[in-house]
Amino acid sequence: MTQPSLTLLGLESSCDETAAAVVRGRPPGPGAILSSLVASQDDAHAAYGGVVPEIAARAHVERMDLLVARALEAAGVNLGEIDAIAATAGPGLIGGVLVGLMTAKALALATGKPLVAVNHLEGHALTARLTHGCAFPYLLLLVSGGHCQILSVDGPGAYERLGGTIDDAAGEAFDKTAKLLGLGFPGGPAVEQEARKGDPARFAFPRPLLDRPGFDMSFAGLKTAVRYAVQREAEPDSRFVADIAASFQQAVTDILATRSRQAMRWFAAHRPNAAHPVLVVAGGVAANAALRGALEAAAGAEGFAMIAPPLALCTDNAAMIAWAGLERFAAGHTDPLGTIARARWPLAARA
Ligand code: KG4
Ligand code: ZN
Repeated sequence: MTQPSLTLLGLESSCDETAAAVVRGRPPGPGAILSSLVASQDDAHAAYGGVVPEIAARAHVERMDLLVARALEAAGVNLGEIDAIAATAGPGLIGGVLVGLMTAKALALATGKPLVAVNHLEGHALTARLTHGCAFPYLLLLVSGGHCQILSVDGPGAYERLGGTIDDAAGEAFDKTAKLLGLGFPGGPAVEQEARKGDPARFAFPRPLLDRPGFDMSFAGLKTAVRYAVQREAEPDSRFVADIAASFQQAVTDILATRSRQAMRWFAAHRPNAAHPVLVVAGGVAANAALRGALEAAAGAEGFAMIAPPLALCTDNAAMIAWAGLERFAAGHTDPLGTIARARWPLAARA
């Protein structure tokens, strides 16, 4: 018997996006996004060149209730028609996580609907099912501002972590490089735009760890190399900025594509029953077109299909939280109102 269709409200507030969404469907997807609203706080943080946790938490408090009301209205459903309420319970900036989770708890208490506490990373990880109905297992490259890891996604709550960054996340490296080049915040899109005009071979930035076994990566040295190059340049003109951005982006792309390719070989050997192996690329950095192109080529060479969710679902949003909540709820999983918010919450035991 096929499962009935479920309708979930999802809340996201773990970083600097306040988001609420209503999603309908059943595993394995694809699902219908009835509404998905994201209020970015970029303006509030731009002056500081990064996310300020206290400012973020206050902005979430100011926006969340209104956003929930608007998401329900845009979806054309009332709270009574919602099957369960999902919210990000971590990992993330704890003040922000608390706002979304407490709002979800209040709604659950007032309506008697079940609460589902969602790991933000699982939201990113399962987006390919919301958008494409991707069957388990699949290989996932998760690259965002706070995370950079390669996982085998075997089921909701079932992840095997192959490796990831040992220092900065890839998105963090983009943001820091943008800051060094005076390109503003958030850095990823700005660096990508500059890189289009630049020479990716002018600066030989490092690709650390790639000669070592395993799937770990490092981006801290790359950021330092960019800083030295900027300091050495007496008169950085627009050509220089574009060349740095292009060379930096090339290094990040090489690191991620090389490790992904090695991980696809691992996946083919360890998940032999996956008839049509898929590499899913998720997280904010997956918005980068150069990276997408390199990963697409790597996947093709390894006999994998590559799936990258549409841009609006790659960066932080609440539709992915509603969907991850839907998958957990469909599997019989709900959480008590005493559930805590967690600053750290690894997806897989080996993380
Ligand atoms: O997933 P996300 O929205 O938030 C986190 O959970 O971290 O990812 C945000 C990150 C930021 O570091 C941003 O600079 C990066 O994704 N990003 C990009 C691009 N668009 C966003 N990085 C490279 N190229 C892009 N086009
Ligand atoms: Zn994220």
